[in-house]
Amino acid sequence: MTEPVTEKDGGALPGKPWGGRFAESTDRQVEAFTESISFDRRLFREDIEGSRAHARMLARVGLLSGEELSRILSGLDKVEAEFSSGGVELRTDWEDIHMHVEKRLVFHAGPAGLKIHTARSRNDQVALDLRLFVRRAAGEILREVERLIGETLRAGYRYRELILPAYTHTQQAQPVSGGYYFGAYAERLLRDRKRLFGVLENAALCPLGSGALAGTTLPIDRESVAFELGFSGVTQNGLDTVGDRDFMADFLHALSLLMVHLSGWAEEWVLWSTREFGMVRLPDRLLTGSSMMPQKKNPDILELVRGKTGRVIGDYTSLLVLLKGLPLSYNRDLQEDKEALFDAVDTVAGSLGMMRLAVEGMSFETGRIAEILSKTELLATDIAEDLVRLGVPFREAHAIVGRIVAHAATKNLTLESLPDDDLKLFCDRFPPGYAATLSPARSVTRRSHTGGPAPETVVRRLGAIWQEVFGEAPEWRGGAEGEEGAPRS
Ligand code: ARG
Repeated sequence: MTEPVTEKDGGALPGKPWGGRFAESTDRQVEAFTESISFDRRLFREDIEGSRAHARMLARVGLLSGEELSRILSGLDKVEAEFSSGGVELRTDWEDIHMHVEKRLVFHAGPAGLKIHTARSRNDQVALDLRLFVRRAAGEILREVERLIGETLRAGYRYRELILPAYTHTQQAQPVSGGYYFGAYAERLLRDRKRLFGVLENAALCPLGSGALAGTTLPIDRESVAFELGFSGVTQNGLDTVGDRDFMADFLHALSLLMVHLSGWAEEWVLWSTREFGMVRLPDRLLTGSSMMPQKKNPDILELVRGKTGRVIGDYTSLLVLLKGLPLSYNRDLQEDKEALFDAVDTVAGSLGMMRLAVEGMSFETGRIAEILSKTELLATDIAEDLVRLGVPFREAHAIVGRIVAHAATKNLTLESLPDDDLKLFCDRFPPGYAATLSPARSVTRRSHTGGPAPETVVRRLGAIWQEVFGEAPEWRGGAEGEEGAPRS
């Protein structure tokens, strides 16, 4: 039998909602160990949103009167206002966000509030809250990824003509354009964006109505709740649903991979901004100093993006390890899923913001890059391909150019300055004045096939990505940035 609602205990039901069959109250240490309110309070909006939809459904099927529904709805408004202003006292004896919302609802709505948990369990309730949270958070991260894509495309357009050395194994490989370089990261981010859309799709079914694990005998209408909450349908098996965190694992996977992309990029710029590489510069507003060494300017934001990647992968890992030993349906272990989720979302949002500042604020040290380009063997592959054009099988051309490179090194000459007579020592097909035709810019322009680095090809691709993400022609075609493409600094 339910005791009357009083002001005691915040006016809500005294004791636990599940206390009926217990002979003594819970040990304080057990309460402290089992509570989740200290972190799941973050789900209060989702919990209240879900409760509103659930209550409306209960009224539609006749389990609540119109009067009770309006008491519950206005009570939930008050509970939301209370939580938004931080005005709710959080109590470990009320365990979690679901019980806090219910207790406060009963306080505001009176006896009608005692009916909110009809045909519902905290098991399907938390499954709902988490889906709502993941959908909102994934949407927000998506917008941030798109902003970073926009900044990356702008940088690519700005540096579309700049020739950069590109690396494999961190060894100089072939020249590319700046547009191609940024375009590479834009492609990665575009895949991240697509994965996040997939996350939204995978969280699109409503779990409410699964009850504790096996539904309810009461005449609920699951589809209408799902529709009201913006889901595309309902889940099909309660025993599966209440223990299903696949949508969360998908999200953490997408976030981990996104961070892996940012981390590699951050690492590259940490390296490229060293005195030794000297290719990238970040403005002072994005650098930090040393408390001891007066000369230092450190790229801490990039290092922290790299470092925080470990954290997000850890969040993903802890979720998978949490799930791997669970039998069907709800197990309390699942309560441990939330902190990993929240931490990953916060960490990724912060990292995306930092990376966007870095892309917007960075500049290439064009003088240093020109110096690097003037002393490289980056065009060796071009020479081999020219020999192919002259009828030499590629494998032979590769060997010939390998010998030419070794020869140039012993004579301390660049490939571009090798005299005809030296080239003739290795192959008689080189036309006169051949070496002078070599240039990094020409090398890049000649690789104009789809997926190649030629500025024209790249600008087309950058524009196509812009169109795909923002649904309109790229801003540089509107002339806002001008066509001059001079590095903004
Ligand atoms: N705080 C719990 C969680 O986060 C809510 C579900 C609790 N269900 C239960 N039967 N104890 O998972």
